[in-house]
Amino acid sequence: MRHLLTLNDVSPEEILRIFALTQDLKTKLAAGVREPLFPGRVMALLFEKPSLRTRVSFQAGMSHLGGSSLMLGDDVGFGKRERPDDFTRVICEFVDVLVVRSKRHQTVEEVARHATCPVINGLTDRSHPCQALADLYTLKEHLGSLAAAKLAWVGDANNVASSLAVACGKLGVPFAIAAPPGYQFADQQLAAWRQAFPDWELLATSDPREAVAGAAAVYTDVWASMGQEQEQAQRKADFADYQVNERLMAAAPEGAYFMHCLPARRGQEVSDGVLDSAASIVVPQAGNRLHVQKGILAWLLGAAGSGEGSGAAVRGAPPQR
Ligand code: CP
Ligand code: NVA
Repeated sequence: MRHLLTLNDVSPEEILRIFALTQDLKTKLAAGVREPLFPGRVMALLFEKPSLRTRVSFQAGMSHLGGSSLMLGDDVGFGKRERPDDFTRVICEFVDVLVVRSKRHQTVEEVARHATCPVINGLTDRSHPCQALADLYTLKEHLGSLAAAKLAWVGDANNVASSLAVACGKLGVPFAIAAPPGYQFADQQLAAWRQAFPDWELLATSDPREAVAGAAAVYTDVWASMGQEQEQAQRKADFADYQVNERLMAAAPEGAYFMHCLPARRGQEVSDGVLDSAASIVVPQAGNRLHVQKGILAWLLGAAGSGEGSGAAVRGAPPQR
């Protein structure tokens, strides 16, 4: 049983395959065609944290593919009415795929351990793989190719940064992160990535200007993620020099894009001027969540092998970097 818990679970070829499936489905949608790859299939979303983009893009995407979805609320009692393994084994009797957004990464791992249907990580404290896939797909779409891309992350070494780093490592996209001391990736993590991706250009610095030099896109995210609300004031002080504003964008190459997974805290990690500038691609980036979720579903449910998923879009479109 394949799951998508982190991008460590996916090979570079599979990432490119997801991009190709996405491209195919996006092109067809633009032509008015919603290919019913998964008629009658049901997706359940189990979310312990709020969501706009991840939730709605998965639900809309599943509808486009001919299936349906259920947003599970508190009343199903996950973690409260029965043991998570009992919950998981039972829900898999009803649905074909589960999307889980959990406070702790261990929860999605536990669900996957007991699941008899594919489980997709819709964000945990540690990773956000679907976001990172949509981000690199968006960058590729805007640049034409990832071959000459460098991505600069300015801000917390959080769940999104971590998934993006792995995605970049797998696809050989140079990655630089600028974060204040105490908010960087652990040295052990950096060493593990350098070992896993020996030819990959990876820079970890505390200097945002150094990170954005030569970057095709500058990316940031909130300074305090969901679950870190009590650290908000401290983080606001610690990240004060890390705002992506017009001055910092001027240190990036002309034409560099601005990216953000959203939601943004305007005036903190990003200035209004940058978020609303011509360089900002945050809206198409969010829009691509829809198309990439469909690519992920086509890949995962097609790969899960009931045969229903191996329709034209699953068979078509060779991978392209
Ligand atoms: N970027 C993202 O995952 O947004 P949501 O929290 O709204 O799903
Ligand atoms: N790092 C943010 C991302 C939200 C999509 C969080 O976890 O809250």
